Amino acid sequence: MKVDVLLGLQWGDEGKGKIVDVLTPKYDIIARFQGGPNAGHTLEFNGLKHVLHTIPSGVFRENTLNIVGNGVVIDPVIFKKEIDALIDLGVDIESNLVLSKKAHLILPTHRLLDAASEIAKGKAKIGSTLKGIGPTYMDKTGRNGLRIGDISESYFLEKYNALKNKHLSLLAQYNFDTSELADMEATWLSATEELKKLKHIDSEHVLNEAMKSGKAVLAEGAQGSLLDIDFGSYPFVTSSNTVCAGACTGLGIAPNRIGEVFGIFKAYCTRVGSGPFPTELFDADGELMQKEGNEFGATTGRPRRCGWIDLPALKYACMINGVTQLIMMKADVLSCFDKIKVCTHYNYKGEQISHFPYDVNESNVTPIYIELAGWKKDLTGVTDLDALPTELHDYVEFLEKELELPITIISVGPDRSQTILREKALA
Ligand code: IMP
Repeated sequence: MKVDVLLGLQWGDEGKGKIVDVLTPKYDIIARFQGGPNAGHTLEFNGLKHVLHTIPSGVFRENTLNIVGNGVVIDPVIFKKEIDALIDLGVDIESNLVLSKKAHLILPTHRLLDAASEIAKGKAKIGSTLKGIGPTYMDKTGRNGLRIGDISESYFLEKYNALKNKHLSLLAQYNFDTSELADMEATWLSATEELKKLKHIDSEHVLNEAMKSGKAVLAEGAQGSLLDIDFGSYPFVTSSNTVCAGACTGLGIAPNRIGEVFGIFKAYCTRVGSGPFPTELFDADGELMQKEGNEFGATTGRPRRCGWIDLPALKYACMINGVTQLIMMKADVLSCFDKIKVCTHYNYKGEQISHFPYDVNESNVTPIYIELAGWKKDLTGVTDLDALPTELHDYVEFLEKELELPITIISVGPDRSQTILREKALA
């Protein structure tokens, strides 16, 4: 069996958690391959709303193994809170959740360094979630990091202290207040002990063996392709490879073992944090999208910036990821608009282009739009494809033609049940 990959095509928050949860019955294993608690994957079913940060979104379905892969970075404190909340809901964590020994740990001092670095950047700040993601990946690539497998070793505290002291000298250079560190550290060390209760595995072996024995695996991405460290709107990106190739390095899966690539996008576009966003709206339409879409961050609560769909950016993301199927989220949010705008090209330094250029920013890029008719119909109770309005079908078909890919699922609300299959997406 090949591994299917599900990932976001925009700047994150596309609704990956919901769709992984919907698709999970088709899979034996769900594996997260990058990112960490900067993510917030929201799932809603049976009147329950739950936000997951590091734990894969298959955790609510019985008989599904959830793997936190080597490409993920874990904050034991946030992880423990997630586990406690799941145990309260009766989820059998000890049997359905395992951690790669190679996943890196976020230390309390990584979080302080994240904050210090953002303050030092001033107006040029990234708008980080301040979960310590950047400094942890820096230590990973700098070959200084601590990993899950280290927790059970006798040298653990010695290694921890060495890294902490290195961070303290950096924090002193930033002149950053570290008075909270002692408390943070005590909580962190005790949460780290708790992590010992979970199985720590060589996840690359487990996954490859599982594939050999015919098990179906879904790799779950976090953030979005335009936040990728290599291909996103650098430097306003996260510190991992959010694109499909990240599933290979973040799980130990060979490129020729990748099967379907599900690319998720919103029927419009959002971004949280700083950085370029060509189709961003600063008017009443943007405010309406934010309100109707409840566009506030699941991790930080920050309001998300909103705008029309951006085809040059989406085409770019489809290309980099080798997307095979598209999934369109939050179509219901556009129900309040008479006209739907679609950015088909950019005016880039006076020239009309249809690709996503190296230096996307407000002064170089102006979006060029076409307008389509809106549907002005509440979709949230629609369960049948044929009951969707004609204008929405037209919108979907227009996007499919432009992106040269099928849109196989349309989501019309946050609940599991508000999901309409257009084709044999999961055959
Ligand atoms: P960091 O990964 O927390 O350092 O944040 C870097 C950038 O990515 C910031 O603009 C964040 O707002 C954005 N970001 C990080 N994680 C997510 C996410 O899960 N959804 C949306 N944006 C995110």
